[in-house]
Amino acid sequence: MALEGKHVLICISGGIAAYKITLLVRMLVKSGAEVQVLMTPAAENFVSKLTLSTLSKRAVYSDFYGADGTWNNHVEFALWADAILVAPCTANTLAKMVHGICDNLVIATYMSAKSPVFIAPAMDLDMYRHPSTKQNLEMAEDFGHFIIPAEIGELASGLVGEGRMAEPEAILEKLHDYFGEAEKDKSLSGKTVLITAGPTYEALDPVRFIGNHSSGKMGFSLAEEAAKRGAKVILISGPSAQTAHHQNIEIHRVMSAKEMYAEVFRNYDRVDIAIASAAVADYAPKEIATEKIKKNDDSLTVELVKNPDILKTMGEKKTHQFLVGFALETQNEAENAKGKLKNKNLDMIVLNSLRDEGAGFQQDTNKIRIFTKNEEKSFLLKSKREVAKDILNFVEEQISK
Ligand code: PMT
Repeated sequence: MALEGKHVLICISGGIAAYKITLLVRMLVKSGAEVQVLMTPAAENFVSKLTLSTLSKRAVYSDFYGADGTWNNHVEFALWADAILVAPCTANTLAKMVHGICDNLVIATYMSAKSPVFIAPAMDLDMYRHPSTKQNLEMAEDFGHFIIPAEIGELASGLVGEGRMAEPEAILEKLHDYFGEAEKDKSLSGKTVLITAGPTYEALDPVRFIGNHSSGKMGFSLAEEAAKRGAKVILISGPSAQTAHHQNIEIHRVMSAKEMYAEVFRNYDRVDIAIASAAVADYAPKEIATEKIKKNDDSLTVELVKNPDILKTMGEKKTHQFLVGFALETQNEAENAKGKLKNKNLDMIVLNSLRDEGAGFQQDTNKIRIFTKNEEKSFLLKSKREVAKDILNFVEEQISK
């Protein structure tokens, strides 16, 4: 059911595993998907267009232009696709994808993609192990693409090891799961969710600032998860290297607490749920020096003034919003979190303690406790993606009461 009517664009590059894509095309078509195949010129050495077009019931393309001079419009292919699968993905095609080397129809289409991209690498043992391949796969993951890892087995070279393309059945399952999840979990559709993320930087002079260690990972995970559940997400982030890929996420990047405050209240009236995961600086320098501060004296005194408390103001201005705060504590954790729940007029607070190993800043994991006025729940150490799911499950339970 999940694949029924879905448009799957398969891009084949030049590796021996290309022959297995004929089976995958057949299975996808049997599952009700519509399949369009594109090939790199090198892929044509491994599998015929005739076989693939017969199985997919569509013409197969590998050039920017047809024999009669018609343009094979890569943008149209990209927009048609509900998912793009690059399989087998050779070291060469992978490198071109992540570095934007657009010298064939497959790469031009990939670079115009609006839909999720799945990559099934296939290459010889040492190529798969090579640092450049590892780095390119990491980059592809950072772009938000889904990697279907190569398997261990006998390779075309006769070597045995990791590098063999995942079997067509495994690739089909990934696509099936993706579309199944997407259909199942639209529990926040129609809702607008505002999320603050990352640190704030409070400038001292043109080159220095007061900041903190927040990476933005927690907030970006929440944004991705809310978007997957169908919410329109307004993500207001301080300086962070994290990137957001989902089309439902509208990202506003800010620097300081005052900028974050202004951006939050430009949007607050139109949101249903607000989650403040940002680590906002409580104080900022009273004056920002216009020139770089010189180190003339042995000590330097900087006067700090209180920043606006964004979350507290959200609590004061709350009309219909379900308001979630975070508390990052180092001692008397539960007591402090409950204090913030009450003083900031929150509906729910998520506590993370720096005393818990693997929790808090920078890490890919977090360990949380959630408090509402009447309830309390503890969770185990999990990846921030899983933590985001727990938080949103809890929010959904509360708003459905
Ligand atoms: O970004 P990561 O590296 O993934 O780390 C995640 C995190 C540790 C930053 C995150 O999980 C977290 O705990 N965020 C809140 C950190 C914090 O500032 O806690 P606090 O207890 O000082 O603040 C309480 C709440 O008030 C927070 O929701 C905060 O966003 C908000 N606040 C605080 C001060 C201020 N001036 N304005 C605010 O809105």
